[in-house]
Amino acid sequence: MAVIAGNWKMHHGPTEALNFFSEFEAGALPSTHELIVFPPIASLHAVATSEQRDSRVQIGVQNVHWEDSGAFTGEISAHMAKDAGATFALVGHSERRHVFGETVMQTNLKVDVLIRAGLVPVLCVGETIQERQAGLVEEVILRQLDGALASLRSAPRFLVAYEPVWAIGTGETATSADATSAHGTLRRRLEHAMGMVQAAQIPILYGGSVKPENAADLMDAPGVDGVLVGGASLDATSFGEIVVAAG
Ligand code: PGA
Repeated sequence: MAVIAGNWKMHHGPTEALNFFSEFEAGALPSTHELIVFPPIASLHAVATSEQRDSRVQIGVQNVHWEDSGAFTGEISAHMAKDAGATFALVGHSERRHVFGETVMQTNLKVDVLIRAGLVPVLCVGETIQERQAGLVEEVILRQLDGALASLRSAPRFLVAYEPVWAIGTGETATSADATSAHGTLRRRLEHAMGMVQAAQIPILYGGSVKPENAADLMDAPGVDGVLVGGASLDATSFGEIVVAAG
């Protein structure tokens, strides 16, 4: 079983989101995979409560604030996201880290609040091209993972997504060997931190320019348990093709 997740980013308001689900026929797709869509917050409740959405497709929120509530204009809390219908939550996505300056510490606080709210964290980690060229892939992704591990150990469930920053939205993907190597690094750290049995329950997804044409190869790579798809998840047909590519 693979996990196929779609991160819609700042696309698909309520009308377009519901149109997506009127076209996306999950019932016709292989039923063994876990499907998750992360709509923007403005569409989340509409999607979560829509009869057009096949209930196989679970819903996640793209970002939350690390406090439970308060004077934080423009932000939303993990509890609100859950109340609106989210089950999963992205945390530490590279756009949060690099465009909005989110620090490892803030990411960790968000992991804590997500666990308290009963949401399943999907912790995103990944290196920039400069970090890769400097041979720092392991160091960077382990620093991002380690920061959150203390809290994640108490999570009933969580997922990790390896998303090299240079592959996000660029059309470039990691090679299968690069993905296997980074996933192996993350897997070994999870096993060391929480033991083989618990670590085996944690899927590690690959993200970064996943498309119908490359999805099968990436998902066949040893250590890749699924994909986190940005651009190609916006279209119901291409997202469906990626699910089919998972076999
Ligand atoms: P992309 O985005 O598939 O458009 O590269 C992936 C992501 O940011 O999760």
